[in-house]
Amino acid sequence: MNDFRRVLKYLSPYRKEAIMATILLALVVVTDLSIPRLVQVIIDQGVAAGDMPLIIRTSLLMIGASVLSATFMVGNTIFAVRASKGFEADLRESLFKKIQTFSFGNLDDFTTGQLLTRLTSDINQIHMIVLMGLRMFTRAPLMFIGSVSIMFATNSQLASIMFVLLPLTIVLVAIFVRIVQPLFTKVQERLEYMNQVLQENLSGIRVVKSFVRRDHENQKFEGANVELYGTSLRVTQLLSVFFPIIMALLNLGTVAIIYYGGLQVFEGTASVGQIMAFINYLFSTMFPILMLSMMAGQVSAATASSRRIMQILDSEPEVQDKPDAIALDEMKGRVVFEDVAFSYRDDGGDPVLTDVSFTAEPGETVAILGSTGSGKSSLINLIPRFYDVSGGRVTIDGVDVRDLRMDDLRRHVGISLQEAVLFSGTIRDNIRYGLPDASDEEVIAAAKAAQAHEFITGFPEGYDTMVGQRGVNLSGGQKQRVAIARALLVRPTILILDDSTSAVDVETEALIEEALEELMKDRTSFVIAQRISTVLKADKIIVLDDGQVAAEGNHDTLMETSPIYREIYESQLGDGGEVQ
Ligand SMILES: Nc1ncnc2c1ncn2[C@@H]1O[C@H](COP(=O)(O)OP(=O)(O)OP(=O)(O)O)[C@@H](O)[C@H]1O
Ligand SMILES: [Mg+2]
Repeated sequence: MNDFRRVLKYLSPYRKEAIMATILLALVVVTDLSIPRLVQVIIDQGVAAGDMPLIIRTSLLMIGASVLSATFMVGNTIFAVRASKGFEADLRESLFKKIQTFSFGNLDDFTTGQLLTRLTSDINQIHMIVLMGLRMFTRAPLMFIGSVSIMFATNSQLASIMFVLLPLTIVLVAIFVRIVQPLFTKVQERLEYMNQVLQENLSGIRVVKSFVRRDHENQKFEGANVELYGTSLRVTQLLSVFFPIIMALLNLGTVAIIYYGGLQVFEGTASVGQIMAFINYLFSTMFPILMLSMMAGQVSAATASSRRIMQILDSEPEVQDKPDAIALDEMKGRVVFEDVAFSYRDDGGDPVLTDVSFTAEPGETVAILGSTGSGKSSLINLIPRFYDVSGGRVTIDGVDVRDLRMDDLRRHVGISLQEAVLFSGTIRDNIRYGLPDASDEEVIAAAKAAQAHEFITGFPEGYDTMVGQRGVNLSGGQKQRVAIARALLVRPTILILDDSTSAVDVETEALIEEALEELMKDRTSFVIAQRISTVLKADKIIVLDDGQVAAEGNHDTLMETSPIYREIYESQLGDGGEVQ
């Protein structure tokens, strides 16, 4: 409930609209409540006395009241929709913007499916309740109080039927709400799980196919789907039992009013018109109760949704600028790791890196070599502060990266991540993603250096070729080369290539290296590679073993001093197999 209230703060820019909607709603109630009273007048004073002009006058009043009520209702809807849609859009925007501030560590906490569900269905859920609230919330209690008071004011004896009817209804509603509330929450949770299953399946559908796991995936989906279906069904079933019961109660009430009212009419203590009006008011007392009990389930779903949304909005980006972060215009590119320790979990967890120390001078190419899982990607992620070190420090030009302004830092770092992700759009737009105003010449130069120009111009539409979602119409190696071009285009002082040529053949890889040598003369580059052929010419090779620097030096010294390095070399290139 608390979270829900906090989410409702996003309604405050629309206070005016919300207040207008509420006022109009109150006016609807006033006009609606007058109608049964007019019916009573028509019957008791018009029909009974045969007063035709009074009947016509009152009927006209009734029509007037209905038109007025309809007009107020339309006005209410206009303002309510304006407020709730604005609220929804604002909330979604802040959620989206919040997610953009997330660092890698925050992103590790949520799956894409979870984020998607929260951005769409959870927000929609809350929007629904806000809209319903603005259209019903005040209406229901006002209508209820109004009807009951009028009933007692008109004929308190007859109105005492409510003493039986109301407690019964309230008990029923309470039972219903208790049962249905957790179910609404569950529906939302199941929906989230279902979205997660869907998202994973759809992004991994090629893997599913290649491992012939269709049946397994179908089962997983069916499980999630059946659960969602089952819970939703129970909610609907409960509703469909609940409504007839309330309706039956209402009809019993009507019968009671007609019976006791009839007796009173015979005795002369009540009029037929009163009884008609009473039946009307009875409906307008029960209707709000029904509406509110319907809303109760929705409110609990919205509360659950609010909790999930606040969970995101409350997440502090793990990596943030310090208040007095240093702006950085020029960077030379001297990168120093000083006794760096790192683990993914704050609570210590398994250390991924321990005691890592080395220096990369400006213009040097540092190769990082090591078996899979040895911590290579983790190490380079510390340079642009995708994660922060747990111990020691990483400095650039002598300044701790944690003291630099993050945007400045990252502007100087060009990175091609291990998994080349392209956005849907043209190849050109993908290459100039980091520098949207780059000229065509710059784009082509970057593509040429990444050995991508040739295959790009091979496409009928060249640089304007559309890349499908996640770049499905490019091969793995082509994607990697576009990603390298994207990193090169920003003319970074520090270039990081994380296994960026793993899907490129040795020959092309050598060409890329050659081009890089020229391009990166005064810049610092970090190259992660599995193939030793890639690292032979590096100024410095760091051999990582289980998160520790096992050896450091250039190829020649390592061949002499490091048994691990010699082993890798021999296993990959055989004895004396020199690769240029
Ligand atoms: N986001 C993460 N959260 C938690 N642990 C992680 C995360 N990423 C990597 N790890 C763990 O950190 C260790 C080092 O992983 P890292 O990705 O740095 O290895 P790597 O040397 O780059 O391997 P590869 O050659 O396969 O890319 C592994 O044990 C891995 O399980
Ligand atoms: Mg890696």
